[in-house]
Amino acid sequence: MTEKRILLIVSGGIAAYKSLELVRLIKRQGIAVRAVMTKSAAEFVTPLSLGVMTEDQVYGDMFDLKEEREIGHIQLSRQADLIVVCPATANIMAKMAAGISDDLATTILLATDKPVLAVPAMNVRMWNHPATQRNIAQLRADGVTVMDPDEGSMACGEFGPGRLPEPPDVAARICAMLDHPFDAALTSGRAPSTKAATPLVAQPDFSDPAHRPLFGKRVLVTAGPTYEAIDPVRYIANRSSGRQGFAIAQAAAEMGADVTLIAGPVHLVTPPGVIRIDVESAAEMMAEVQKALPTDVAIMVAAVADWRAANVPEQKIKKDGAAIPPLMLAENADILATLAKHAQRPKLLIGFAAETEKMVEHAQAKLTKKGCDWIVANDVSGDVMGGANNAFHIVTKDGVESWPDSPKDVIARKLMEKISDAV
Ligand code: CTP
Repeated sequence: MTEKRILLIVSGGIAAYKSLELVRLIKRQGIAVRAVMTKSAAEFVTPLSLGVMTEDQVYGDMFDLKEEREIGHIQLSRQADLIVVCPATANIMAKMAAGISDDLATTILLATDKPVLAVPAMNVRMWNHPATQRNIAQLRADGVTVMDPDEGSMACGEFGPGRLPEPPDVAARICAMLDHPFDAALTSGRAPSTKAATPLVAQPDFSDPAHRPLFGKRVLVTAGPTYEAIDPVRYIANRSSGRQGFAIAQAAAEMGADVTLIAGPVHLVTPPGVIRIDVESAAEMMAEVQKALPTDVAIMVAAVADWRAANVPEQKIKKDGAAIPPLMLAENADILATLAKHAQRPKLLIGFAAETEKMVEHAQAKLTKKGCDWIVANDVSGDVMGGANNAFHIVTKDGVESWPDSPKDVIARKLMEKISDAV
């Protein structure tokens, strides 16, 4: 069987970062992917991140002579079995419906004779607008397959249809259109390595380590709380918002790292270029953390529940008498301590400690107990959990460095700078 190939066109929207996950899933199904980005897509996801995932050059500029000499738009489409526009913004679909070709992506779409799949993602009002609905009807009449968007809460705070369908669903649709067997088991976990980034010809700025100090490094971040089920409808949780961990993942991605963010249940948008894996319980977080190894740096920011319910009944617990049900707890395994003893221990392993008093003393004790390299101790005596600011003490075997109260994104960048000096 010859290898199937898709040409992925990424247009510019907040969902563009999900194209990274889609590329990973598609490649795991044994399908080759080549990518084209529109100019505005590059505002949401870097060509570097996409290039690392496709392990290929990312095409963007129609008038880049170097690229045109090597491979033109006709060839890009000729070499593909299917063209996938994901995410497909209202704008690119309007151009497709009207036959406008004013950049490489739309020129390919106008010139191709290959099947086209469009995967829409946009604000609910844009989706419901008569112009968009008219364009979609036109595209479908022209033979383009347009997936229905998911319904749910959006990055803009509204609710309704318009969300990008989940990448595994898009991958399944691509396989169906290619007549390629779809293996759902291959859609969980992460790819063994995305490190094989060849210097990207088109992006000298990005591939220069001086410009991106963490280029080629893998960084694993855990963030948010965990939920521990009591029964099918109730759970034990904590007040962690996940913001500090997300800010750290974002800072790491901005510095060029290949970032995996394992997030407990939070209401936050995934930072551009970050591969996010959502989990609920401490046990799920542990499993995903281990799957994400090896990594150069691991930063365990998550407020992992120390305990879970010892027994979780399959049915909801009913208040059927006078007796209040006892809640028996069992201790969760410590993810940080497990990583410290792991055969694939990250080169730099960082734990967080939430303290309300004797911060440095407690952090030093934790450093030894957990076997990590640094403990970032933060003072949670105020309203840190869910708030915008954090004050930190970085405790290492060599001493303590104290940072003043600063916004979480400032702290995140400062921490990542310190990390990039150390790895
Ligand atoms: N951690 C973990 N797995 C757990 C518990 C905690 O990986 N089961 C990690 C957290 O992500 C964080 C650090 O360990 O990096 C925090 O350790 P923990 O002992 O839970 O800290 P506190 O909650 O601050 O400790 P204590 O309750 O003892 O004050």
